[in-house]
Parts: sequence; structure tokens; C-alpha cells
Amino acid sequence: MKLLRNVLAVGMGALLLGSCAKPKDAMEVKIDRLLSQMTLEEKIGQMNQLSGAGLSDDMKNQVRDGKVGSILNEVDVDVVNELQRIAVEESRLGIPLVFARDVIHGFKTVMPIPLGQAATWNPAVVEAGARVAAEEASAAGVRWTFSPMIDVSRDPRWGRIAESYGEDTYLSTVMGVATVRGYQTDDLADPTAVAACAKHFCGYGAAESGRDYNTTWIPEAQLRDVYFPPFQAAAEAGCATFMCSFNDINGVPSSGSKFLNIDVLRNEWDYDGLLVSDWASIQQMVPHGFCADLKDAAYKAANAAVDMDMAGYAYTSHLKELVEEGRVSEAVVDEAVRNILRLKFRLGLFDNPYAPKQDHPYYKEESLQTAKQAAEESAVLLKNEGNALPLDGGCTLLVTGPLADSPRDQMGTWCFDNAEGERAVTPLQALRQVNGLRVMYEPGLAYSRDRSQAGIRRAVQAARRADAVVCFVGEEAILSGEGKCRADLSLPGAQTELICALAATGKPLVLVVMAGRPLTIGTEVQLADAVLFQFHAGTMAGPALADLLLGKAVPSGKLPVTFPTMAGQAPVYYAHKNTGRPPVDVAHIDSIPVGAPQFSVGASSYYLDAGGWPLFPFGYGLSYTTFEYGEPHLSTDLLTESGTLTVTCDITNTGIYDAYETAQLYTRDLVASLCQPVRQLRGFEKVLIPAGETRTVTFELTPDDLAFCHADLRTYAEPGEFQVWVSTDSQSGKPVTFEYE
Ligand code: NOJ
Repeated sequence: MKLLRNVLAVGMGALLLGSCAKPKDAMEVKIDRLLSQMTLEEKIGQMNQLSGAGLSDDMKNQVRDGKVGSILNEVDVDVVNELQRIAVEESRLGIPLVFARDVIHGFKTVMPIPLGQAATWNPAVVEAGARVAAEEASAAGVRWTFSPMIDVSRDPRWGRIAESYGEDTYLSTVMGVATVRGYQTDDLADPTAVAACAKHFCGYGAAESGRDYNTTWIPEAQLRDVYFPPFQAAAEAGCATFMCSFNDINGVPSSGSKFLNIDVLRNEWDYDGLLVSDWASIQQMVPHGFCADLKDAAYKAANAAVDMDMAGYAYTSHLKELVEEGRVSEAVVDEAVRNILRLKFRLGLFDNPYAPKQDHPYYKEESLQTAKQAAEESAVLLKNEGNALPLDGGCTLLVTGPLADSPRDQMGTWCFDNAEGERAVTPLQALRQVNGLRVMYEPGLAYSRDRSQAGIRRAVQAARRADAVVCFVGEEAILSGEGKCRADLSLPGAQTELICALAATGKPLVLVVMAGRPLTIGTEVQLADAVLFQFHAGTMAGPALADLLLGKAVPSGKLPVTFPTMAGQAPVYYAHKNTGRPPVDVAHIDSIPVGAPQFSVGASSYYLDAGGWPLFPFGYGLSYTTFEYGEPHLSTDLLTESGTLTVTCDITNTGIYDAYETAQLYTRDLVASLCQPVRQLRGFEKVLIPAGETRTVTFELTPDDLAFCHADLRTYAEPGEFQVWVSTDSQSGKPVTFEYE
């Protein structure tokens, strides 16, 4: 089926789509009618998105004159409604504006950053979080958010890994679709629905050397296997808008890519939503060296089907001229405007243009509970030696570390509308509320980059008086997100010194790491008895962590991204190819004798200093209990082209806590005409298993799940032998094999 679809898409897609024009529905008729009344200037006005400037005369005039289609970054509901009134009542055609905002992981109630959401492996809580964000944002008149970011991200140096769902195509797809559903609901015209935006199309996460906005080179087969699927799934899930990426991809910036925007998005995927540029990304095709000047950029973007120019003024400055010169046809402009008007009709803005007058729906109790659940499920237990966790609820506890009481930093990147952490509950505040627990507090360091020593000495003295120490370290929010890449992935400032000094006291030491990306914390993990890692978890990080530390909740998060031992391993991800000489850690750099002969350290795919393996693999995460996996059972060892293979596996909770486990289904195509990854995630199930009990997880595999893009760009599964695992992470478990014929 998938094979057939792809054959058609590659070979005859445009032809078929062109010849099977659908009859126009009522909305399309309205769009055409409106379009027929618009002047060229009004059409270009719709293609213009401006950044909010309050109720300035200039903005009011531009709206009145039909020179603006959308405004981003305006969240004062009175301003929004007044500008909308001018658009609807005073502009010639009364076309409503659509207001947009980066509501990425919450508007007022802040959820974990998307990387943390992915660590929950729970699409239901991710969807619920997006619903909360949409309810809150729509109350301010924001009906379009620039989320989800579904760029597969395999490089922890890249600051925007924080905003992604991590390194895996399948997990990013599931989480992306859940997010779209949460924002949009089934009915985009619902006044609390917000149009989602699948971004950044495409390949932005593959930025060379993990440096933001950098070049990408991605062979088409890899694009189709790794980077496209979350976007195609978002399109199929009805995601109302797409955004171009900043990067150039194989030499062509996305905002000028006919291949991405026309051949793939419009023709193969039959997408009829709105495609917006990224911020001035049309204009930026000039410094890219792809366009001579702004006019050339407008020409290339319009002809590459970019519907709306975000804050770049390329279309308003040059599109009219380009149409008059015949270099951009009016049909191209009409198509863009159709896509824009379609969004506005779908959002119901022609019938209900205004944000309803209401008490604001911020920080509702249910919303805070959703944020708490997401924060709790996002925490990943990396180590728990001697069952150091959970803590004894009657102990004297030293709370220390620069992230213990920093509301702003636990918010993470991208929370414009609650950047200060209003209503955030910090771990310190939450632990102080725990009955019976005696809490001492010494921050040790004032912020994550702090290098001063005086606080460390005070923390050590306090540690000596405590039964146990919990040290909250990590990264301030400002160290991850857009434009915030790091070449060094260690804990900033003197945090490692703080940890060393605390460990030297001999007191039980628990580290809680709160960060926007994976960090190289091998030394710190060795020094601590237990380590909980939480990607910046938002408003309710504190109560969630307090429950986890005291055993009121059991950690269930799993890493959505591989943790390197050293930054130099990046990019490092589980779904890598095997190479002809797979890693064998033969010798460490310090163990090589002086004058050793050339090949005495072997010749395998590893680093002399960092070895061949990461610190923690994708999918990893412990619990307070233990789970035992049985051998996967297959319904057949021969999968046919039209068949389905059912994989079942028993998992037993062998500990004393009732707990959730996320069972992960991986496959490997052992021999193929293009080398395939050593493992690929094909499914997962998060299941509650009471202590002492066994649960069976069931997965289905079809040939579609085994398909990959071939050298001729057709996607299908190749006959041959496959391995399948059901395991607790991407490195463990024993595979069983089956044949696909
Ligand atoms: C640039 C970012 O790349 C994009 O993700 C964001 O939505 C826009 N700016 C708008 O703020």
C-alpha cells in the first residue's frame, strides 16, 4: 500500500492531482468569491505578517488599508480586538486578521519544554498540555501558534534541541501529532482552538556542527526516512499551517525550495494549509548567497510557494512589481491568498473574529494538574544506587544548588508570556511544604554559571548537619533555545566543584539536573548516589520533583535523546548505521603505552578518549521498581506483503512499587540494498504494572513499518531477515528474528 502510494507520488503525483480536481465545497466557493473582489495590493497585504506594535497609528492604518494579513507577538486582548475591529469594520473587504504567537510549551501555565514532554512517552499528557496552552492563548486572541517543532534533533549542542521531541523519527511523529490535536481539537472553528504550525520544514535539526541556522546536507533518501515523516504525519493530521526552516538544505534555503514546498508538500502530500516563512527567512536568502537582493528573494520565495512573509517585508516591497513584470504570475499570488483565507475560514474568524470577553482561564486547577503530571512523567531516573531514592520523609535534608529555587529557569526556553515564572512552584518551595521533612537551604551557587566559592563552603557546612543532600544543578533557561548553542556540554560554572565538595562529605547525595539539553555529566553521575534528570519542566516542576524524591510518585520518564559522554561524540544517536568496523573499546587514551605500535589499539569505530558508546542511550530510564522482560513472542516468523506480525512480550514488575514502564519495540533490517540503522523504534507502550504482577504488551508490525527509501527514491520494505526487540531502552534486550517475503 505504502509502496504503491510512493510509486505514485514520485512518478505521477503531480499529474494525478492535477487531473482529479475535487468539486469545490462551500468554503472554497467563498474563498474564490472573495479573491475575485481583491486588488493585487490587498492580496499582497494578506501575504504580509507583521510583528505587533500595539495600537500605533502606523499599524492601524496598515490594517485599515488591507496591508496586513496576520500579526504576531500581540497578546494584549484589547489591542487584538481593536485591531481586529479595524480590519473587519474599516478595511474595504473586512477580512479578519489572524494573530499568532510562539506558544511553544504553554502560555501562562507552562508545561515542560518539548524535549521533556517527549521524555514522558505519553502522548495523552502532551495533547492535554497543548489543549491547556490553546485555551489560555486563545483567550488573548491568539489563534495561531508556531508549534510543534518536529525537527528530528540529534545534536545536543544545538540549542533548539530543547524545543524538539528529540532524536527519533517515530517518537517525534507521535508527539507532534498529539500536540496538533491538543491545539486544534477536531474543530478549528471552536473559539478555544488554535492553529498549529509544523516547523521547520525542513532539516533544521541537522544543522552542521550543532550551530544554529547552519547549513544542512541531507540526501533525499535520508530526508524521506528520517526528517519528513513527522511533517507528513502532521499534514495528514490536519495541521493547519507549516513554517519554512532557516537553513539551506543541499544548497537551497527552504524559503526558496520548490522541491520542499511544491513537489513534496503541495503535490505529494496534497497539503492545502498555509505555508509561512520563518522570521525574515525570505530576506535572509540574500546573506545565504542564494538571492542577489530582496527583490530576487521575493521572486524566489513566491515562486517556491511560500504563502506568507513573516516580518521580512520582501513581498510588500517587491511582489507587485514582480507581478507587473510577469516574473511572478497572479495565479501564484492567488494560490497563496487562497491558503491564507482558507486558514481564516477554518478558524471561523469571518463569523467570530474577536477574542471572547471572559474571565481569563489562566492557571486553572486542572491546568496546573496537567502541568504537574507532565513534569512528573518527564523526569528520568538515571541512577539510584543502593535505593538512595526515595528519600526518607522524616529526615533532615539539605536542599542546595542554583536550580533549587529559580522560578525563571525552571520555565525553560520559549515562554514569552510567563518568562519570569509567575505562579511557578520551585523544588525548594515544594519540599518545604512536605510534612515531617526538615529542610535546610543553602544555594551553594547563585546561578548555573556562578563560579564563586563562598557559597560552596556554606553548602558543605550545612551538608554535614543533614541526613541527606539534594543538589539541584543544570542550565539556566537562557542557555538553551533559539541561537543558544553550546560546544561544551558540561555543567556550567562551578557546579561540578559544588558536587565534588558535597560528595566528599560522605552524606547520601541526590542530584537533580534541570536543563534544556543532554549534558555530559558522567563524572557527576559517578559522584552521586542517585540522579534524576528533568528537562526544564515549567510551572509545576517543584511539586512534581518533591513527589518523586519522596516516593509519592515513581519516575517513569525515558530519554528521548542519547546522552553523550563527551560533546565531541555529537551527533550521537541510537539509530546509527553499524559501519564496517563497529565500535570495540580496545584501549583508552591513557592506557596506551608510549611508543605503542600503530595497530595495537585496534581499528574500530570508537574514540580513544570517549569510547564507542554514549553515557546513556535513547529510551533509557530507571524506576524505583525493577522490571523483567520475557522473550518477545511473534505470531509468525514469516511476514507477507499483505500480512501483519503481532509481537507480544510479558513484563513483570519484580519490585515493591506499582509503576509505569514504557516498553519499546525496535526492529533491524539485517541486510538491505542501502545499509539500515542498527535499531529503529517502531512502537511503544507505557503500561502500569502493579508490584509483583505481569502485563503483556502487544504491538503490530506491517511491511509499511519496515519500509525505507531506496536509491531510486521509492519507499518499500525489502524482503529478507529482520530482528525485533521489545526492550526497556534502545541498547538492551535480546532480539528474535523473522523473515519478510
Ligand atoms: C524564529 C523561529 O525560528 C521560529 O521557530 C519562530 O516561530 C519565529 N521566529 C517567530 O517568533
